[in-house]
Amino acid sequence: MKRVLIALTLLLGLSTTTTAKHQPEWLKDAVIYHIYPSTYMDSDGDGIGDLKGITSRLDYIRDCGFNCIWMSPCFASAWQDGGYDIIDFYKVDPRFGTNDDLKKLIDTAHSKGIKVLLDLVAGHTSNKHPWFKESCKAEKNAYSDYYIWTVGKNYKKPGPKFVNNNYPRDGYYIRNFFEIQPALNYGYYNPKPNHHWEQGYDAPGPTAVRAELKKIIAFWCDMGADGFRVDMAQSLIKSDNKNRDGVRRLWNEIFEWYNAAYPENIMLSEWSNPEQSLSAGFNIDLLIHNGIGGKVYRPLVCETTDKMVPTVCYFNRKGEGQVRAAMEQYTEIYNTYRRIGGYASMPTNSHDIWRLTRMNRTSAEEQKVAITLFLTLPTPPIVYYGEEIGMRNLEYAPAKEGSVSSRNRSVCRTPMQWSTEKNAGFSTADPAKLYLPVDNAPTFPNVAEQLADPNSVLSYVKDLLALRKATPALGVEGEWKYVGDMDNPYPMIYARTLGTEQYVVVFNPADRTVSSTIPAMGKKAEWVFGNNASLAKCKTGKDVHTFTMKPISVAIYKISR
Ligand code: NOJ
Repeated sequence: MKRVLIALTLLLGLSTTTTAKHQPEWLKDAVIYHIYPSTYMDSDGDGIGDLKGITSRLDYIRDCGFNCIWMSPCFASAWQDGGYDIIDFYKVDPRFGTNDDLKKLIDTAHSKGIKVLLDLVAGHTSNKHPWFKESCKAEKNAYSDYYIWTVGKNYKKPGPKFVNNNYPRDGYYIRNFFEIQPALNYGYYNPKPNHHWEQGYDAPGPTAVRAELKKIIAFWCDMGADGFRVDMAQSLIKSDNKNRDGVRRLWNEIFEWYNAAYPENIMLSEWSNPEQSLSAGFNIDLLIHNGIGGKVYRPLVCETTDKMVPTVCYFNRKGEGQVRAAMEQYTEIYNTYRRIGGYASMPTNSHDIWRLTRMNRTSAEEQKVAITLFLTLPTPPIVYYGEEIGMRNLEYAPAKEGSVSSRNRSVCRTPMQWSTEKNAGFSTADPAKLYLPVDNAPTFPNVAEQLADPNSVLSYVKDLLALRKATPALGVEGEWKYVGDMDNPYPMIYARTLGTEQYVVVFNPADRTVSSTIPAMGKKAEWVFGNNASLAKCKTGKDVHTFTMKPISVAIYKISR
């Protein structure tokens, strides 16, 4: 029997080392809020957000309906890539406070029913990290093989990732992202004997680096953290094969230990390939704007000029987008994670990609239509801070701390807007001292005003999260199926069902009235949620439901048999 299983897994191209899927129960109800710590809340008036600031806003976060936060890195950093260039994995960066402040944040969050995920930058360090400084030395030492180095610079660099440098060590090192981020040496999938810089998985360098990774994970979990989002999780093993067997072996090894040591903890991967990530052992793969996730995300929400997708996105008042490719891809992703276990969650956006208000989605109603997608998918929702109030994408935000990669990412990293007070309530600092400027529009979305307004984006998000919580069919257990017309996708319609409970979610981001018919799922369709009941109509005949949606509308219908 075992042999048949092995043969089958090999046939399917999957690693034989795949660990059994381990999912803590709480994950089913998780609703995750992603925070960029430098701009969430400044408690000490220095113009930069901090941990005490975040702690002071936990009630707000809980009251919105979130029960888990993921913070971008808060560790000692050289700040040349927004904290993703770490110089000490065991220390909170002084700009954010102390390790004690993090412990207090975690304990307070737990007392309010909120889990805390940290960001694990596993693939690289800053070039100012003490390990790298040692590794740069000409004499051999304990850290020489913590990074990937060639011997000698007197020949052509073997590839574009090899970096020219003036360090005492005679060789090129490999970067993982920016040049200031040397890649940690976890080894090569199949080291080539004539490539002297390529070491195997079990070589002393990679073995030591894996041990360091476990130590870092254990340190924060022992403090009480509930897990991590792992940066560039697929990048650790170099020259991996197509199926990423090398890096999956590594993560399988980590998860075998992690799941036993911290059975209630989870890990999210920045990978955007659920087949690979979930079989590696991750609990949630992030369907971001790149990789397989990009094939869903980009055509739906971000008009783009790259070759991956058409240049017109679906969630736009022009109403010229298409969904077939995105929905077929999503269906495949859905089937994949249901088969393997775990989830593939599509975040609203992140500190790396534009806010949802981009593409002229400037009105509250457009924002409600777009955000409904992310809150009604069959996976734990992930909302980037500020999206719940429809913060603007600030095109004029200056480059900051390595924000520029293929685009200036400052646009989506500006301070959270809490109120109409000074600096939008983010900080008492002189505005010139702020990490990034706050929105300078005469009126800008902010928490205080939106909390008081039942028609605000924030009220809508809170109500929708409450509905999701009270309605299992809309949660992770409910089935998901595209039921609309794939080629005339205004409105776009999908069903969420669980047992006899049936719902459909109907979207019309276009600035015109549209209508569509689907085969009847029951005798009665009742409007339960949306941006306004008067904008949506459903007529149920013997065989069909006909949805007529006014301009810029979204509706959730309950369908009874
Ligand atoms: C992905 C992170 O989200 C991004 O902000 C960072 O620049 C790179 N990884 C490198 O760590």
